Amino acid sequence: MRRQVHRLTGEEGRTEDGADKVYRGPAGNVTGMAAAQGLKLRKFGFIVHPLSYEDVLRYEPKAAGKGQALIRKILEWMPAYRVCDIVGVRSRTGEEIMGHFIGVPLMPDQFLSLPRAEVMARIIRGTNLAAELGCGIVGLGGFTAVVGDGGITVAENSPIAVTSGNSYTIAAAMQSLFRGAREMEIDLAGARAAVIGATGSIGSACAQILGNEVSQVTLAARNATRLAKLTHAMQSHVKAKLAWTTDIAEAVQHADLVLTATAATSSVVEPEDLRPGAVVCEVSLPHDVSRRVATERDDVLVTEGGNVKVPGDVNFNFDFGLPPQMSLACMAETMILTLENRMVNYSLGRGVNLDKVLEIQRLAEKHGFELAGMRAFDKPVTEEQIAHTRERARAARLAGDRPPAGVALS
Ligand SMILES: NC(=O)c1ccc[n+]([C@@H]2O[C@H](COP(=O)([O-])OP(=O)(O)OC[C@H]3O[C@@H](n4cnc5c(N)ncnc54)[C@H](OP(=O)(O)O)[C@@H]3O)[C@@H](O)[C@H]2O)c1
Repeated sequence: MRRQVHRLTGEEGRTEDGADKVYRGPAGNVTGMAAAQGLKLRKFGFIVHPLSYEDVLRYEPKAAGKGQALIRKILEWMPAYRVCDIVGVRSRTGEEIMGHFIGVPLMPDQFLSLPRAEVMARIIRGTNLAAELGCGIVGLGGFTAVVGDGGITVAENSPIAVTSGNSYTIAAAMQSLFRGAREMEIDLAGARAAVIGATGSIGSACAQILGNEVSQVTLAARNATRLAKLTHAMQSHVKAKLAWTTDIAEAVQHADLVLTATAATSSVVEPEDLRPGAVVCEVSLPHDVSRRVATERDDVLVTEGGNVKVPGDVNFNFDFGLPPQMSLACMAETMILTLENRMVNYSLGRGVNLDKVLEIQRLAEKHGFELAGMRAFDKPVTEEQIAHTRERARAARLAGDRPPAGVALS
């Protein structure tokens, strides 16, 4: 049976075998060199979902005016669907790929509260849809990687390869945090760090990497048993002194560097707990650093952890809240594996595989992916803002606030 030929923004689409013919952008321009030559492009899928009601309205303006309860009900009824086509991802090696966002439209708390089997079935349906669209690998965005066992069950039931994207997220998060530390004149070797969500897939890897860069790391989350076990197991692999706590405020109060990678659906880091001159790297989505930090702590540098610049002339055909050419590191990992033609399960589960973090970082550089400009609270952070934050931190320290350990006062 003839497959449906999907109309993109131009008049050309997929052939009957799922290959892509000439690809045209919004103005009818051919969007990529390989596409222009009519070559078949390898494809990736990436599963997305709304993080907030504002996201739902951005996806579907007609939802405006409907109550939140009704919106939630409608989302529960909606099956996985093809959101858009992503074109123009072109490596510095010249290789070009394309992809699709696949919507599994539940809110973060619905992923956690609806029956597990039902949620998993929806995500697996999303992977099947990606396969039907001709993708060789699918990335699990947001809470589709958090719910359950970090993608293992999904991968076992997916017709194509699966990755959570967490390896490149970890690499990008560490780069972001270290860039922030440099900007705030923090000497890493003497610094104290706190990882919030430290027993998670991303948090545990970040804690271990930090453990060989700073003098002390506090691991924080809600479950004391898991924290104690992980801290004990990790201590022999790192130079830093490790501690753990379920009291997040306490962990933050003693930290020069804070990294958040929680599955919280509301704020866990509050402005009153942060030390003067601290750097906060927020990997969590939805955000878990209180928006009050933006207005109440101009001596603290907050940076979103996982934003990267995509090589080529990418058009996502979809506004997911980042400026053009920018993506989340988890999306980028799926693109990198597709560029490499590595259609294999990659980042899955809660374990730490630092070799994969190093490998994906190397592959990212090979293909021209790089850390994006600094952003916080959904906006770019300017050089002037960084300089102001640095000055305010210096003033706060000189005014008698105890300087954080490890801060190089020049
Ligand atoms: N920016 C990006 O590119 C990017 C990419 C991938 C993922 N992410 C985000 O990164 C975050 C972590 O992902 P993951 O895969 O590492 O998740 P995960 O493996 O499920 O780990 C979540 C961690 O958060 C802790 N936690 C959950 N709820 C909490 C709360 N209310 N307060 C404090 N700690 C809490 C969990 O431990 P307890 O249950 O014991 O508290 C666990 O340590 C998610 O928000 C995800 O959406 C961002």
